[in-house]
Amino acid sequence: MILLDGKKTATDIKEEIAIEVKKIKSKGYKTPHLAAVIVGNNGASVTYVNAKVKACEMVGFESSLIRLSENISEEDLLNQIHILNNDATIDGFIVQLPLPNHIDEQKVIMAIDPDKDVDGFHPMNVGKMALNLPTFISATPFGILELLERYQVQTSGKHVVVLGRSHIVGSPMSILLSQKRKVGDATVTICHSRTKNLKEITLQADIIIAAIGIPEFLKADMIKENVTVIDVGITRLEDSTKKSGYRLLGDVAFDEVSKKCDFITPVPGGVGPMTIAMLLKNTLLACKRRS
Ligand code: GUN
Repeated sequence: MILLDGKKTATDIKEEIAIEVKKIKSKGYKTPHLAAVIVGNNGASVTYVNAKVKACEMVGFESSLIRLSENISEEDLLNQIHILNNDATIDGFIVQLPLPNHIDEQKVIMAIDPDKDVDGFHPMNVGKMALNLPTFISATPFGILELLERYQVQTSGKHVVVLGRSHIVGSPMSILLSQKRKVGDATVTICHSRTKNLKEITLQADIIIAAIGIPEFLKADMIKENVTVIDVGITRLEDSTKKSGYRLLGDVAFDEVSKKCDFITPVPGGVGPMTIAMLLKNTLLACKRRS
């Protein structure tokens, strides 16, 4: 069993980006600048956004964190997005999801300038991704592709089973892996809450991408030998023995599943760190495109 070490791979990618940033700066070009908008105080969201901003510092990017009240109106948030769209110093920005219930998430995403949409969530960018045209690929699926590539996990002709059909992970992942691309050419089955005989399907998988948000959902009796398992789940479970007060659980029962795997991602230290590295990659791309 080989551990797909997202933490180490993300560090490698960040080092590669830092080298490029140094070159960009030495040539007198603009420093890449990422802005992150966060609405409210959701603990997990605040942690993720802080990690994104910290990662910017590590690679030499400029960053801006825009913290807005839980009670901000949709109109005021849309105004804030308008300001970021028109701010020439900012190359790309993200609005951390989820948003409070009184705000229409789709409306907010559609207000972002597609050229600054480094999350790749705007319908224009999702459409380009689906057509295999150059665009910003969302950080989590992009990170999974990169991890599979760097560890030379073969996908061509393999049966990939994606658990979950979210707009952020399951849906784009299923599209990307079925495409004609370096990490792709797979036969993809996408499973969700209405799927019948799930175990029959997962037992046929060469590669499983688990992105349903149910802790330790995938068990050893649901998989065959020599599979590759990518665990996208990150559920926080209260744990008073931890300094943070919680521990993270993936969608995969790691101890039993890993025994049957060729490759598997751990939680934490698998897909999570890759997501941040790929957001930086998209921001670098946005900056290059603009200058
Ligand atoms: N919430 C969970 N994942 C993401 C992400 O990749 N981007 C944003 N903006 N919000 C998220």
